[in-house]
Amino acid sequence: MLLILVMGLIFFISLYCFYQVSKYKIIDDYPGPTPLELLKFVLLPKSTVDSYKFFVSLNNKYGPVVKIWIKPFKPTLLVSDEKFIKHILLSKEHVNKASLFELLEAFIGNGLPIMSDINLWRQERKTISHVFNNQFNIDYISTIKTHAIKLRDAINENLNQPVDLQMLLLRHGLNIVYEILLNEDISNQDDRVNRYSTALKTFFEVYFDRINSPLKMNDNIFKLTNNYKIWNKCSEEATEFIESTLKTVVELKNKSPNESFRKDFIDLLLESGLSYDRILAHLRTFVVAVIICSCYIILVFNYFLKGSDTVSAATGFALYELAKQPELQEKIFQEYISIVGFDEKVFAEFRDIQQMSFADCVMKESLRLYPPVPFIFRTLIKPAEIDDKVLPGDIDVTFSIIGSHYLNFEDPTKFKPERFLPENSTKIPANAYLPFSLGPRDCIGKIVAVAEVKFLISYIVRHFTLHPINDHKADIAGEVVLTSKNGLPVIFKRRIIE
Ligand code: HEM
Repeated sequence: MLLILVMGLIFFISLYCFYQVSKYKIIDDYPGPTPLELLKFVLLPKSTVDSYKFFVSLNNKYGPVVKIWIKPFKPTLLVSDEKFIKHILLSKEHVNKASLFELLEAFIGNGLPIMSDINLWRQERKTISHVFNNQFNIDYISTIKTHAIKLRDAINENLNQPVDLQMLLLRHGLNIVYEILLNEDISNQDDRVNRYSTALKTFFEVYFDRINSPLKMNDNIFKLTNNYKIWNKCSEEATEFIESTLKTVVELKNKSPNESFRKDFIDLLLESGLSYDRILAHLRTFVVAVIICSCYIILVFNYFLKGSDTVSAATGFALYELAKQPELQEKIFQEYISIVGFDEKVFAEFRDIQQMSFADCVMKESLRLYPPVPFIFRTLIKPAEIDDKVLPGDIDVTFSIIGSHYLNFEDPTKFKPERFLPENSTKIPANAYLPFSLGPRDCIGKIVAVAEVKFLISYIVRHFTLHPINDHKADIAGEVVLTSKNGLPVIFKRRIIE
């Protein structure tokens, strides 16, 4: 009897393997590492720096489309190929993200980046795009200005000694975006921010533990574990962090509505017709997923935040590279002075930021060489025909933004902002530059992000000169948001203006 059972089991497993391998046969046409290489990578202990190097090396070694397949499991493709970008990223149909994201919903809310109900996503994406693109109404720049002054004061306290840009910028980046989105200045609320960050860190420990175990991925089994209670508690903390602010702001607005021409983000969300619960869900997601980098908040002893968010990462990497090239700092300084003038009390306005064309090149080059979101994911919802090959309709495709930024640019590892000058940028192949992704599910916050990064870079260079630390080489790791494991140290000196 036992023998029959075992034989039956072997038969069904073989049948399953045969089915899987024939279903995804077409994937074998693409080059990629052998299953043994992949198994070695999966099983051997590795740091996030090693993982990042491994995935970046795959496109360099095998080209723009790489198969990652341990048979008989489902394969995935790692791509930075223009045709895939056009057929999948730019398509209105393939907007689904990999199912791993759904697990995050409990904690970070069912906001845009996570939403799996695609009809609802389409509807709300339209509404929220309208709010985000309404830059003429929302006064982002005053908020950025206030915090830029605080950042300048913090730098002034640390002149002439090594300062880690990641540590310096993270909290300021969070304060800025929190205030833009929720109208609240949290710069003096360390206890509250730290409680939230602890919840965030714990949540992601449980998350990674969960996604590494097929058993715990099952909801019913997970509910029996101790981690389930921890997961729920973290989720409540996260909701509380945003909701307490949102409640107060909405109550205040109900008492005295904002009649002025200048609206803020919440005014526009309330006017958009979204329900209170949906607004809360979106704000929760924005704050967790976008502002604080999802999985890399580490609380180091005395509640110091270490980590990275997308905007701080972009600003930090740009400043780190500028420290190595004083002539680029000089160009940014001259451009700033020619547009804003010498008066320290006068700040750049939104239209000034738009005119800063060299700061724009520096920002773009920083996002090319160090894209804060180096990989993005899509799940095909139906077969896709690319290059005469029909890809099965359920595979995951990982787009390597960093891969495209390396394969399509000359001298890709060099920081050269001049590639983005108008006379050179025509050489950039279509769709090859995509730090904010492309297509219907691209970054909704890019206008805010670009304004903030350019404002901060030019404002800091206006007030200080930056100097490199000899021989420091950043150990880059792709931990949801790109980060340097050994920091981004530079030395600030006060700028002497004659
Ligand atoms: C330099 C800074 C930033 C970079 C490089 C960046 C990059 C990205 C990328 C690559 C995506 C696409 C993800 C995907 O396709 O799976 C994305 C999506 C998104 N980003 Fe950003 N982002 C930045 C800043 C921001 C900011 C400041 C906000 C909001 C305040 C924001 C809000 C969003 C949202 C809501 C989505 C999801 C859109 C959707 O799924 O419909 N981002 N971002």
